[in-house]
Formats: sequence, structure tokens, C-alpha cells
Amino acid sequence: MQHFNIAIDGPAGAGKSTIAKAIASRLGFIYVDTGAMYRAMALYFLREGIQASDEARIIAACEKARVTIRYQDGIQKVILNDEDVSGLIRTEEVGDMASITSGYVPVREKLVELQKQLARDADVIMDGRDIASCVLPDAQVKIYLTASVQVRAKRRYDELRARGEGWDLAKIKKDIQERDYRDMHREHSPLIQAEGAVLVDTSDMDIEQVISRIVTIAKERGLVPKAEEEGPDWK
Ligand code: DC
Repeated sequence: MQHFNIAIDGPAGAGKSTIAKAIASRLGFIYVDTGAMYRAMALYFLREGIQASDEARIIAACEKARVTIRYQDGIQKVILNDEDVSGLIRTEEVGDMASITSGYVPVREKLVELQKQLARDADVIMDGRDIASCVLPDAQVKIYLTASVQVRAKRRYDELRARGEGWDLAKIKKDIQERDYRDMHREHSPLIQAEGAVLVDTSDMDIEQVISRIVTIAKERGLVPKAEEEGPDWK
């Protein structure tokens, strides 16, 4: 049976995971956060004390970093060599390391295979940078989710403040711009708006508006909602 796949790509801070998680729970899909997999690999490299620029050591270390995912009460847990690292990978340091090391082909090959497998086995909504262009080119729905740098930086700033972490908005904005540049200009699988992907700019949209826009597109592309998962959107 062919599963229904929704691919969401976009730059850091566009709200991909918030939106994808909400849509997954509304549609009864599995949410796959591919950034978390690159982050888990990055955490392994950091723990091994490997420099991001040391391609030979990164490639050698790929063999030893076993990344898998598990679902607990519908929530994705990222497992690195049998350890649940889901909480440890959410730092700026790990995110920056992931942005750099995801440029190496062996890192990507390993994770792309796992991601394709997950989409073969279930209805998934998967977010990342190369989902529509590389991982799921046949996805029924492809979305390029973005927002202005200013809006993305402010959202990140609010999120960090809510966690009690003090950050400088200008520094966050600069980090986001650097990450965007790296993700969009790398040689292998750069972030692009893939052919057939619908651009959704969330700068002036609230979460509910974004969710319903994507759900509407999915219905137009043939998604038939399962009765038991019907939510307010289907009425
Ligand atoms: O979405 P995120 O911030 O968790 O992702 C961290 C980094 O991982 C991102 O800067 C680039 C990389 N990444 C990637 O190369 N391909 C993906 N499909 C997802 C993330």
C-alpha cells in the first residue's frame, strides 16, 4: 500500500517542527524530525572532540555513531548508540555542528536511507532541508515553509527567554543568517524550494492558519481523512 507523505523543508526557525507535529497529531501521521538525526550525529562528533572541519575523522566516526528513532506516546525520541539524546541535542552548539557536518556525504547517506525507510512504512510528515528534493521526491505534498529573518530571530529569542536563557536578539539573527547561508550553499543537497513545492511564508500567519493551509493542500492532493482522526478542520 502506498503511504501518504508530506515533505516540509525550510530554513532554521521557520516553525517546521511545531507545524509538522501539530499536523501529524491531527491527521494521525507519524512526525519525522530529520534535523534531530543530524543533531544526534553532531553530538557524537562533539563528544569525540572532533573538529567540524576534520572531514576524515568525521567520516570515520560515522561508522560508530548509530542513530535510530523510537516513538514514545507518539513523540519521536532520538537514540544515539542506545542512549536517548532527545533533550541533549537542542543546544545552539549542537545545531551549529549539525549545520556544518551535515554537509559531508557519508553523514547524509546514512540518515537519508533511514528516513526513506520510515516513509515507506507509514504515513509520515517529515521536515528538514532536503526532504522534497532528495529524501521523498514523490511525496504527495511538498511545502517550503519560511518566514523573514527578523520574524524567525524573534521567535527563537522568545523561545529561549521562555526557557530562562538570556540571548541577544542581534546575535540570534546573525546566527540564523549564517546557518541559512551554509544550509543553502553547501555542495550536497542544499536547502532549496524543490520543484512542485508550495511556498508558505509564515511571517504574518499564526500557527492555526499555517496548519489549515497545509491540511487543505493535502486534501486537494487526495488525502482522505481517517474517520477516527477527524478534527475541527474536517468539518
Ligand atoms: O532543523 P534543525 O535546526 O534541527 O537542523 C539542524 C541542521 O541539520 C541544519 O542546520 C542542517 C541539517 N539538516 C540537513 O542538512 N538536512 C535535513 N534534512 C535536516 C537538517
